[in-house]
Amino acid sequence: MGQRQRVVVQLALCFLTFGALLQAGVLAGDNPCAAGPPVDTNPAECCPTPMLVDGTIMMDCYKKYGEQTKKQLQMDGIPRGCCIAECAMNATNMYADGMLKRDDLSKMFMDAVKDKPEWMSLVRDATNACFELAEKKMDEIEAGAKLEPSFEGEKICHPISGTILRCMGMMMFAQCPASVFNVNENCNKLREYGSICPMI
Ligand SMILES: *[C@@H]1O[C@H](CO)[C@@H](O)[C@H](O)[C@H]1NC(C)=O
Repeated sequence: MGQRQRVVVQLALCFLTFGALLQAGVLAGDNPCAAGPPVDTNPAECCPTPMLVDGTIMMDCYKKYGEQTKKQLQMDGIPRGCCIAECAMNATNMYADGMLKRDDLSKMFMDAVKDKPEWMSLVRDATNACFELAEKKMDEIEAGAKLEPSFEGEKICHPISGTILRCMGMMMFAQCPASVFNVNENCNKLREYGSICPMI
């Protein structure tokens, strides 16, 4: 795997894995999302979304917090903040005191797609939509920030960073420009799933 693909796979841990865990069969019934993604195709193969955060930073943060994130994803209750995301937001100076610096972050995202015109308006709109979404979920986010460690060595992170990065990833995937999207049966199914189900 190239570095880019590895990073995407690792990001997926924070941002896309939950569906796969649900597949284990905790929920069932009429909920079309309950069974998890219909195919095990890697989203990055269907839509190579631009990396909004420097790949080296993501890798470092994954090394630090990947293991704990895997554990946390299997826990019930109030969603725990993703430390991989918070670590990345710290490294880029975007996080302080339970908040992301919205203007700086928007600029960083736009810089990341400055050579990719097909992504620009999408990323701009997604940034606004994701901050609005976080606003609506603020009670749950704040509750997540106040959780106590539940296993030896667990670091509690504020959920805002993971919420925004995950939302950006999902939006970019769901609205992947036609010129970039790899049309095939599995990818179409995955996109359909991603547009109606939260992939985490
Ligand atoms: C991010 O920085 C804050 C200080 O602003 C610190 O409290 C927190 O532990 C850091 N998070 C991570 C994941 O390193």
